[in-house]
Amino acid sequence: MNLYLEIVDVHGREILDSRGNPTVEAEVTVKSNRDGWLYTGRAAVPSGASTGQFEAVELRDGETRYRGLGVQHAVKNINDKLKSALMGKNALTQVYIDRILIETDGTINKENIGANATLGVSMACARAAAQALHLPLYRYLGGINTQQLPVPMMNILNGGKHASNTVDFQEFMIMPLQAENFADGLRICAEVYHCLKRILHNKGLSTGVGDEGGFAPDLPDAVSVLDTIMEAIKTAGYKPGSQICIALDVASSELYHEDTGMYHFPGESSLTGQEVVRDTSEMIAYYESLLERFPIVSIEDGLAEDDWDGWKQMTKRLGDKVQLVGDDLFVTNVKRLDAGIKLNVANAILVKVNQIGTLTEAFEAVEMAQKSGYRAVISHRSGETEDTIISDIAVALNAGQIKTGAPCRSDRVAKYNRLLRIEEELGTASKYFDIFAAQRK
Ligand code: PGA
Ligand code: ZN
Repeated sequence: MNLYLEIVDVHGREILDSRGNPTVEAEVTVKSNRDGWLYTGRAAVPSGASTGQFEAVELRDGETRYRGLGVQHAVKNINDKLKSALMGKNALTQVYIDRILIETDGTINKENIGANATLGVSMACARAAAQALHLPLYRYLGGINTQQLPVPMMNILNGGKHASNTVDFQEFMIMPLQAENFADGLRICAEVYHCLKRILHNKGLSTGVGDEGGFAPDLPDAVSVLDTIMEAIKTAGYKPGSQICIALDVASSELYHEDTGMYHFPGESSLTGQEVVRDTSEMIAYYESLLERFPIVSIEDGLAEDDWDGWKQMTKRLGDKVQLVGDDLFVTNVKRLDAGIKLNVANAILVKVNQIGTLTEAFEAVEMAQKSGYRAVISHRSGETEDTIISDIAVALNAGQIKTGAPCRSDRVAKYNRLLRIEEELGTASKYFDIFAAQRK
C-alpha cells in the first residue's frame, strides 16, 4: 500500500512577528492511511524590511488595524481558497502541492493569494508529512545525504533599515570558519558578541540592538565598524582572518537613488556634515579597499538590485577573491538567478523562502545555484518568528552557510538552538568545515 497522507484540514491565523507586526501562521492536518492517525504541521512566515523590489508579494490588508499591516486577507485565502484546493491531496507530494498553490494564485508574483499565504501552507505541509513519517524535518526535506551543519554568518552589528543609528551598511557579520563543529562556532561567535558589547560600552556607545539582535551604535562609517569588530575578535582571543572572518550585507538597493544613479550614505553624511555619495565604480573600489584591510570573505548586495552592469564589473574585479551574494538581486527566483549565472554575475545566492512563496521554488533556486558552482546561503528575515524551519532547510540542503542574526533575541537564537539539537542528533554523521578554505589559500 503506497503511503497516502490525506490533507484533511488547512488552517491559517494571524500572529505577531518579532517587530510586533502581524504575520501568517498556517496549519496543515493530514490523515495517514498507514496508521489512521492525524498529524498537524504548523509554520510561521517571516517578513523583511529591506524588501527587494522583485520579491513575491506579501499580502497586507492596507486597512486601519495594525497600521495597514494586517494579514486577514491572506489568512482568509488560506482558509477558503487554498484549503479547498488542497483537501484530499497527498501531503507527501510536496512538488504537486506547491504547484497547486502556485496555480490557485495564478500570477507570477503571487499577488492574488499572497506569498505569505502560500508559503505558510507549503511549509506546514512539509512539517505535517515529516511528522506522519516520524522523521526530523531536515531528514524528510534532505534525505540520506543530509549531513552538513552550516557555518553561521552571524550578524553582530546592525545598520541601514534595521536600526536607527548612523551605520549605512545593513549588516556586519562574523563567520567562525575554523571551529571544530557548529556548537563550537556558535560559542566563538557569542564570545565575540559579548566582547563587542563591552568595547562599545567602554567607548560610551550604545549597546542597544537592532532588528536582528546586533548592536546598533552610532559609528561613523564601515571602516570604524570593522576596526571595532577586529578589536572584539582579538579581545575574545581569536585570530581574525583564520579563525574568524567577516561578512557584509550592504543592502545597497536601500542606498541607491534612481534619480542620481548614485549610492547615498545618509549616516556618513550626517556625521561628516557633507553629502557622501558613491557611483558604481567607486562602490567597487571601496569594497576593494575594505578587502585589503579586513578579512572579509563575503559581500551581499554590494550593488543595487537592477544594476546588472555594475554587478558584472564587480564580479569580474572581486569575484575570485570574495563571495558575492545576491539577495535583492536574485530574490530566490530561478529566473533572475538563471539570468545572473548567464551574465556571470555574483557567485552566491541568498535564499529567503518568503521571497518566492513555496518550498519547492526555493529548493529549485538552491539546486540551480549548486549545479552552477554558486553557493547558497539560507537566510532569515529581519522580521522573524519562533519558527526554526530555516535551520532544517540549511542542513537538509547541505547549504553550508546560514544567516540568522545575533546570539540575542529568541527569534534569532531559536534557529541556532535548533541547529545545536540537529548537530547532537546527527552525532558523528555531522560535518562542519571551512567552506572558504580553498578561496583563502
Ligand atoms: P530583510 O533583511 O529581511 O529586512 O530584507 C535581510 C537581508 O537583507 O538580508
Ligand atoms: Zn540582504
